[in-house]
Amino acid sequence: MNLTLEHIHKSFGPHKVLDDISLTLRDAQGLVLIGPSGGGKSTLLRILAALERPDLGSGPVAFDGRPLDFHHETSLREHRRGVGTVFQAYNLFPHFTALENVTLPLVHVHGHSPATAKAMAMEALERFHLDQHCHKRPAELSGGQRQRVAIARAIAIKPSMLFFDEPTSALDPEMTGEVLEVIEEIKEEGKDFVLVTHEMGFARRLGVQVALLAGGRIVETGPAEEIFTQPREEVTQRFLAKILRY
Ligand SMILES: Nc1ncnc2c1ncn2[C@@H]1O[C@H](COP(=O)(O)OP(=O)(O)O)[C@@H](O)[C@H]1O
Ligand SMILES: [Mg+2]
Repeated sequence: MNLTLEHIHKSFGPHKVLDDISLTLRDAQGLVLIGPSGGGKSTLLRILAALERPDLGSGPVAFDGRPLDFHHETSLREHRRGVGTVFQAYNLFPHFTALENVTLPLVHVHGHSPATAKAMAMEALERFHLDQHCHKRPAELSGGQRQRVAIARAIAIKPSMLFFDEPTSALDPEMTGEVLEVIEEIKEEGKDFVLVTHEMGFARRLGVQVALLAGGRIVETGPAEEIFTQPREEVTQRFLAKILRY
């Protein structure tokens, strides 16, 4: 993907959350966002997924040269339909089974017939070894299984790209492993993605561009290997020292 962000600002009331974010990716498969809590990572991700509008006066957000039109609800909806999003808190409907959770958007957002949607949903669930759990509700699944259902739901729509917002931060280490494996598999398959994570070892292994966001600004950006071994900025050095200490 090619991604261009130019002078993106976002405030909530008097609170400036993104402060002049500019970023360019050329022919990149992925981007990993890291940084301290409250730094603006989720807000930036939500803007990329067209779930949030930047402030008036911001520059363009463009994918492969096509700027998102934030004043045009139809084109925003079109963008949202084409991307898959996975959040920390799964966002599954608690009263529906895994299969229903994956099937519903295929019917109601993507217009597939119930039979086609069910077949597509089963295919996605089987891929992540969830077929034997497909009739369970979220409360009957482990955290790792729940997150894999959420990923299956995102993948089932055959998205052009995927957004992951701290997909493993609510999970214990074993479940974190099983979810990271799924993300790596999706990467190997060539799907474009933006991932917010605190799993620094994993971020490094993905070998993509990393951007550190703190206080609403991009403090440093570069290849993973460079950021993790030779961070230039003091903010990055302090952040990595803190997160890698334990
Ligand atoms: N909808 C909102 N309304 C008001 N403040 C918000 C909203 N969303 C995020 N914020 C604030 O914006 C800041 C950045 O939040 P966020 O993007 O979630 O950061 P991160 O994901 O890096 O932890 C925080 O101070 C948060 O409280
Ligand atoms: Mg966040």
